[in-house]
Amino acid sequence: MKLWGGRFKQEESKLMEDFNSSLSFDKRLYREDVKGSIAHVSMLVKSGILKKEEGKVISDGLAGLLEDIEAGRLEIGGDYEDIHSFMESNLIKRIGDLGKKLHTARSRNDQVAVDMRMFAKDNAKMLEGELQELLDTIKKLADANNVIMPGYTHLQRAQVVTFKHHMMAYYSMFSRDKKRIANAIEILDESPLGCCALAGTTYDIDRKHTAKELGFKKPVENFMDGVSDRDYLLELCSCFSIIMMHMSRLSEELILWSSQEFKFINMSDEFSTGSSIMPQKKNPDAAELIRGKTGRVYGSLISLLTTIKGLPLAYNKDMQEDKEQFFDSLDTVTACIRVMSGMLSTLKVNSENMKKAVKYGFLNATEVADYLVNKGVAFRDAHGIVGEIVIYCEDKGCAIEELSLDEFKRFNPVFENDIFEFIDYDNILKKGIKKYL
Ligand code: ARG
Repeated sequence: MKLWGGRFKQEESKLMEDFNSSLSFDKRLYREDVKGSIAHVSMLVKSGILKKEEGKVISDGLAGLLEDIEAGRLEIGGDYEDIHSFMESNLIKRIGDLGKKLHTARSRNDQVAVDMRMFAKDNAKMLEGELQELLDTIKKLADANNVIMPGYTHLQRAQVVTFKHHMMAYYSMFSRDKKRIANAIEILDESPLGCCALAGTTYDIDRKHTAKELGFKKPVENFMDGVSDRDYLLELCSCFSIIMMHMSRLSEELILWSSQEFKFINMSDEFSTGSSIMPQKKNPDAAELIRGKTGRVYGSLISLLTTIKGLPLAYNKDMQEDKEQFFDSLDTVTACIRVMSGMLSTLKVNSENMKKAVKYGFLNATEVADYLVNKGVAFRDAHGIVGEIVIYCEDKGCAIEELSLDEFKRFNPVFENDIFEFIDYDNILKKGIKKYL
């Protein structure tokens, strides 16, 4: 079953065999592996390295393996070193000695590199789709809730905004994330197949042919880089980390907003859970888990960076460690985006509570100062005057707009009746945020 038994006198220890094997996780690359091999065979035929009939039997054999795996007739498992060994051994079992010609002018180093690139590219495209769905969900929720809410800095009520504007901030973040993924796809779009172990091959192979067959823009420039480059995984893991960071911030807000202290939103039962002891509890577990899983996705990025950092050129077995990190990071971010979309499409916004929070948070204090500035008071002086007005209102237990004109005038004689219109929240929004929507 070994691809490399020839130069060995002793059997590999069972301990080493298990330790070395990546089949349990790289079996996920079975489709890419077959696709890459079929492209390789077609190139070998085109370059006159394999006979046409030979190529046909090998390709058909590979296609048969794929069909059997997909149909559940062939289970991926056993004492194989990795998915590549599994495929080659099973091909030989199926078509006989001719199967042994498949690996001509190829190494597992360029084989695994091309498999991973294809896998990364397809899944990055899938993720672009998931992100688009999240963007659509956010836009829908925002449009349906163009209502006033307090905007915060330092988590203290600051100025009036709309729930729509708040949500569209996340729309901007996830739009950038989508662009980052598209950019990563563009950079990774080169085929390492044909780099062989590290130095290419003396065979006159056609790397452009395999690159084209496999949907890559072109072959990689440099053989040694081609087999040992994992930048594309790092770039994607870093995109995933930034997406998670954005989702974690949003989760944190959803958790706060659904608390009794804020009561700005009601999370749907579908995305909440209860407590085993406290009957009244409804917990925002979905948002908390997204926030929690962010650490795990960052972990994969750091782990991968650390794995690669000390490696001399070219391939080293350390690189096998890229898979579990990348797969886990990909699966986690995919699941989190889907749950986030689900949570956002089912939550309800309490616009009345948001309005109340705006009213008693002095969120028009800045506009009172702007008013004074319009009447000729210097901004720094206006700032001080409004500070005193806020203390006065706090003592009295009222909102600024609830003061009478006489009370306003006690702070500065330039106040006139138009102050009320000027600091009305809807008017503020019309002049500020809404103007730019
Ligand atoms: N399972 C290996 C990996 O994922 C495949 C490449 C093995 N290459 C080698 N020279 N041992 O990296």
